Amino acid sequence: MSKIVVEKSPPLKGTVRVSGAKNSALPILAASLLGTEDIVLEDVPSLRDVDVICEVLSSLGAEVERYEGGKIKINSANLNKHETPYELMSKMRASFLVMGPLLTRLGKAKTSLPGGCAIGTRPIDLHLKGFKALGAEIDVDHGYVAAYGDKLVGDRIYLDFPSVGATENIMMAAVLAEGETVIDNAAMEPEIVDLANFLSKLGADIKGAGTSSIRINGVEKLGGAHHSVIPDRIEAGTYMVASAITGGDIIVENVITSHIKPVIAKLRETGCEIWENGDKVRVIGKDSRNAVDIKTLPYPGFPTDMQAQFMSLMSISKGTSVIIETVFENRFMHVDELKRMGADIKIDGRSAIVQGVDSLTGAQVKATDLRAGAALILAGLIADGQTIIDHVYHIDRGYDGIEKKLTKLGAKIYRIE
Ligand code: UD1
Repeated sequence: MSKIVVEKSPPLKGTVRVSGAKNSALPILAASLLGTEDIVLEDVPSLRDVDVICEVLSSLGAEVERYEGGKIKINSANLNKHETPYELMSKMRASFLVMGPLLTRLGKAKTSLPGGCAIGTRPIDLHLKGFKALGAEIDVDHGYVAAYGDKLVGDRIYLDFPSVGATENIMMAAVLAEGETVIDNAAMEPEIVDLANFLSKLGADIKGAGTSSIRINGVEKLGGAHHSVIPDRIEAGTYMVASAITGGDIIVENVITSHIKPVIAKLRETGCEIWENGDKVRVIGKDSRNAVDIKTLPYPGFPTDMQAQFMSLMSISKGTSVIIETVFENRFMHVDELKRMGADIKIDGRSAIVQGVDSLTGAQVKATDLRAGAALILAGLIADGQTIIDHVYHIDRGYDGIEKKLTKLGAKIYRIE
């Protein structure tokens, strides 16, 4: 198994281009099962999670052709299976996003239950609540979940928590249901808006995506579309922290700055200089950083997917910061790894209290999940000596060419087998 080695690096310099968003590409690929004509997607990031969902689509009867440069062509006219293979489902929780499209297009869908995961139990009750409200029958048995409903009918659905995945799955099921569906307390993430824009291009009737109330009027059939995936705001934020942590001066390109307002605001509070110019952001880090408090929240709050990376930054800041995780109940797996590198962090329930130290030291650590892996790379950039990161398959799930992009900025990072 490969490992990533990071050495203490000079302040990062240069320009880095952000890829298409993983969390937009995955639901949009799942939604491609709804179209009956050619679909062409651009700016799809080159990631292991994308490979997995493409395999899922093929296994269901869709034709999937991949091209260089992030272009994927899909035709789901001959969609002919309603069950996803267990092996693929177990590789990636987001495969569950095919449930909504399969149910509404074929009248039935069956997948294995997404298992527990390092960052919490991550239930699917809200997805199922939505399918039931649309008239589907749900059967959970022997580790599988099946949904049946020959004729889905729109309804009003209130989500107890603005779950991103549940909002997406219900939205996809509702586009072919009869009549109007309203999702209240819907997630408002930019990726929801991107999915709604894509579905609208296919011929769906959706209003209010990006607000907490989404209205969908079912249509009989969806066609084809050409769509470019929005830039990855979490990847952008990760490179911005890389500049902050090394005292660098970099330009991050292909950014929608309105999507990363909390990251920009918090980095400024740490003392970073940030200049926004169209789709570019210049991030000038300083020799020392102020400690800042962070509380993760659903969009437009501070993203839970940036919590670990900020914790690395706070580990070497001046003072004490309190980081509160409210989205997932167990997303502090990276704390023990950062402590191995000399960080001073205590966990108290959903809060982590980070006492900044003067320096970190390289160590053997493991990526416990995707963003934890990114956090360890960031810590490795400033730690004395070598940081050797194991379980890097987590990082490959969600960062397109991270070593290449960081190397171009002057970082000392490479992979060993
Ligand atoms: C998506 C993102 C992930 C991000 C997360 C929160 C994708 C592929 N992944 O994950 O990177 O960290 O949003 O921004 O887009 N919950 C329930 N019942 C449900 C569903 C969720 O209780 O049926 C809870 C979860 O346990 C969690 C919270 O809701 O505590 C947020 O989860 P959710 O927004 O659904 O995250 P995902 O869509 O899985």
